Amino acid sequence: MSPCNVFYGTLVHSLSITELEIITNGVLVVDNGVIVHMERNVEDVDAYLQKNEIKDYNLHRLNASQFIVPGFVDTHAHAPQYVFTGSGMDMQLLEWLNTYVFPTETAFKNVEHADKAYTTAVSRFLRNGTTTCSWFATIHLEACQKLTDIIENLGQRAYIGKVNMDQNAPDFYIEETDASLKNTRTFVEYVQKKESKLLTPVVTPRFAITCSSRLMNGLSEIAKEYDVPIQTHLCENPDEIQFTCSLFPESKDYTAIYDDHNLLGEKSYMAHCVHMTDDEIKMLADRKTGISHCANSNFSLHSGVCDVRRFMESGVKVGLGTDVAGGFAPSMLDAIRSTFFASKTIKVLKRDGMLKGGDDYVPLSPAELLYLATMGGAKVLGLQDTIGNFEKGKAFDALWVDLENDGGVDLMGMESPYQKVQKFLFNGSDKNLLHVYVQGRRVAGAASA
Ligand code: GUN
Ligand code: FE
Repeated sequence: MSPCNVFYGTLVHSLSITELEIITNGVLVVDNGVIVHMERNVEDVDAYLQKNEIKDYNLHRLNASQFIVPGFVDTHAHAPQYVFTGSGMDMQLLEWLNTYVFPTETAFKNVEHADKAYTTAVSRFLRNGTTTCSWFATIHLEACQKLTDIIENLGQRAYIGKVNMDQNAPDFYIEETDASLKNTRTFVEYVQKKESKLLTPVVTPRFAITCSSRLMNGLSEIAKEYDVPIQTHLCENPDEIQFTCSLFPESKDYTAIYDDHNLLGEKSYMAHCVHMTDDEIKMLADRKTGISHCANSNFSLHSGVCDVRRFMESGVKVGLGTDVAGGFAPSMLDAIRSTFFASKTIKVLKRDGMLKGGDDYVPLSPAELLYLATMGGAKVLGLQDTIGNFEKGKAFDALWVDLENDGGVDLMGMESPYQKVQKFLFNGSDKNLLHVYVQGRRVAGAASA
């Protein structure tokens, strides 16, 4: 048995959506990747360890510029698109998909290319503190298996989806319906056979435009049979919504298209959801389906500004997503900042009468932003009992932050613990992440060891 790891110092995590807890003299005892003790207000850590009969341990004392925070959960990113981040940001969704996305994703037919690109992408996300990520890959079975192997080696907690598309796509990037379903089964079985607690296959119809009814029905059956989650895109862009509804005139609205194909449920989550009626939001709440709020992407492809509080108030689970490369930043710190700006934009539009609602709208607080990037995402993925905060019994997925490590933050000495957390959220970078842990394993970090 290897010794357990004891962390003593400031712990920062969410108790609930509005309650950010900052414990300045906390103890976390991590044994075999799991938090076995979590204690507040410990004056003497040696006495605490003795009292609890913890004998075989490595003790890590954090200094005043350091704290530990839960690892970030990115609920929506496209691994193959990392190679062209920042390209085409002058376009809107459908033109951008045809110009950049489909040609780029086609290249992942070549597994060697996939190996190099995916290793680069996953490494970057880990360095940026994304300990859990829900990935879209491409339509290619072998490259999806390669992505799974890479993630397993690099140690990220991940949901991985083989993308499905059998219509309204270019000739060079489209599947036969039966082959798409068969390869999805093979992929789900490939991931499940690994019996890894970190890896989950996720059924991934790209979006309704590129999926026939037969494909969507078949995918919902696969998700049920293997008891796996479902991810897709919903109500991202006005032209997309109009085209989608014209393809499925028998469904009441875009959300109902997925519901009519049995794709909405407790294990489903939808990216974007920028333009939704109250009825559609209620449908998500009724089905217990979560959403991934992708604010950078919604600005960059000028899809729109999502009022995420509307979903929260309706009881819909909300997490954040980078949507690389619709969003240009492979970083959840950026997702937090983009979400902050989206929320402030909604506030201003309401105050100035350009959106309905009046002047009493409350934009998201720092506590809410950190919650959405950690616990909120965990709930969307159904991982609320595994990760998201530092409750005893959860996995140790965490970031050891050091604000003195020249990551873009200057400490002046007068900051309260809460101000330090805010300096990290608004000005921190990967250089402030000394160690990134998933299930207790160090998987990345700016410190040399
Ligand atoms: N809708 C369908 N495919 C995509 C994609 O790759 N990115 C984004 N942002 N939206 C999509
Ligand atoms: Fe996306």
